[in-house]
Amino acid sequence: MAEKFHRATFTRNFLKKITRIKNPDEMLADAKSEGLEKTLGVWDLIILGVGAIIGSGIFAVVGIAAAGSADGSSLGAGPGLIISMVIAAIACIFSALCYSEFATMIPVAGGAYTYTFATLGEFAAWMVGWVLMLEYAIGFIAVACAWSNHFIQFLSGFEKVLPAWLAHPPVWLVNDVFSAGKIAAANPDVFIPKLFGVPICINLPAILIVLLITAILVKGTKDSTKMASIMVFVKLAVIALFVLAGAFYVRPENWTPFAPHGAAGIFAGAFLIFFAYIGFDALATAAEECKNPQKDLPIGIIGSLVVTTIVYVLVALVLTGLQDTSVAVPADFLKAPMAYCMIMIHQNWAAGLISIGSLAGLTSVLLVLEMAATRILYAMSRDHFISARFQKLHPVFKTPALLTWTVGLLAVVGILTLNLDVAAELCNYGTFTSFIIVCVAVLILRKTDPERPRPFKVPFSPITPSLGIICCGGLMIYKSMQPSGSALLFPVWLGVGAIIYLLYGFVKNRLNENKIHNEKVELKKQELLR
Ligand code: ALA
Repeated sequence: MAEKFHRATFTRNFLKKITRIKNPDEMLADAKSEGLEKTLGVWDLIILGVGAIIGSGIFAVVGIAAAGSADGSSLGAGPGLIISMVIAAIACIFSALCYSEFATMIPVAGGAYTYTFATLGEFAAWMVGWVLMLEYAIGFIAVACAWSNHFIQFLSGFEKVLPAWLAHPPVWLVNDVFSAGKIAAANPDVFIPKLFGVPICINLPAILIVLLITAILVKGTKDSTKMASIMVFVKLAVIALFVLAGAFYVRPENWTPFAPHGAAGIFAGAFLIFFAYIGFDALATAAEECKNPQKDLPIGIIGSLVVTTIVYVLVALVLTGLQDTSVAVPADFLKAPMAYCMIMIHQNWAAGLISIGSLAGLTSVLLVLEMAATRILYAMSRDHFISARFQKLHPVFKTPALLTWTVGLLAVVGILTLNLDVAAELCNYGTFTSFIIVCVAVLILRKTDPERPRPFKVPFSPITPSLGIICCGGLMIYKSMQPSGSALLFPVWLGVGAIIYLLYGFVKNRLNENKIHNEKVELKKQELLR
């Protein structure tokens, strides 16, 4: 009996601890004391949003979403890609409205991680932070590799002026081990060095861009909005160029069959192309710096999603009109579809400009993803989930230098070891999960804290958040039913996260609680002695 009683008490205490909630007022007070300058208006937000969103999704992933992966593990949507894009956009818009409610109610850094701490408690917040690492850190690795592919394509455009080893670098020097293996399997002449039988591939351009972005972030990003607006302008200009130049060569017969793999292809495309919309959530983390977050932030978030959707649908129409996606497509189409199509219609000059534009676009996305990863880890370090050492700021630049370099170096390890197709899919699982949790958190806080002022309210709640949960959950479940490595790895990632929490975050938080308690007792003792 006694044992039963102890076990019940233990379980109750344990549950109480892991659901400990951080009060939103405490978060707001912390944010106020930091006093960030409020400089962002609605247009700045739309520019930042488009800067964060448009990247490798439209410059690279769109090829596989339209034509399917070479190994057949992902079906192509064909011209039905425009429907996939609208489905993915709708799933995002429901979640975007929920992000807007939170971002205007608790305008502090940290995004979904912070909102979860305010509603579902300590353990859920850690898990969301852990899952967000899939979105931001693994997404960072995937985009760095897409950057490398575009850079190589860009170099090959100069084959007449560059030495051959630079215009066409060795496969092992510019690919990850899995892509290089596929290339070598298709072409036995390709040389891949081996050390004790292990193939050595280092994807040097991806590693160099990661190190460069990390160095830029450590130095600080004071002019980041200015830099982002230039890059946004460049990438929108090259996309416009693609649409306008390509429109003249579209062959409408390529639009039939509209959906070569039916609904299955369209949903597989929607799951993949969802990656192309990731980034608007990072906008919510800029809430502290908005001049008028209540009004501007929802317009900024929804506005950048609408602009992006229009751009994506136009690209999809032209792309699938240029290349027949119902048959097997060349590997270059899968890697850099827009540039490939321009070469196909003999507009090499346009292909060159598109390569430059996509490099600019991918660079801005890389900046946002790494910055978002470090901001969230910084917040998690403040909450004792990871070592407090990561909060240390650089003495001159005042940025979390150790944390930023750690993220950069871990990304390099990822580039050297990960299968990037799986990485991009894992990134989607992470994002879907965080979107679902933000929708759930809106519903919970409406019940538990109905009086809190909400400058922006999700319209038609609880229908809108529920639709967000259904759309994101539906796409995730749909993908999980397909045989793929990421569907198996995602639960493993969650399991590893839970174990790390129990061994580190849970223990550290209890030690911190004890410390605070002891300090209070000591203070009381001294007061009594006086
Ligand atoms: N939306 C971002 C991209 O497409 C992640 O690169």
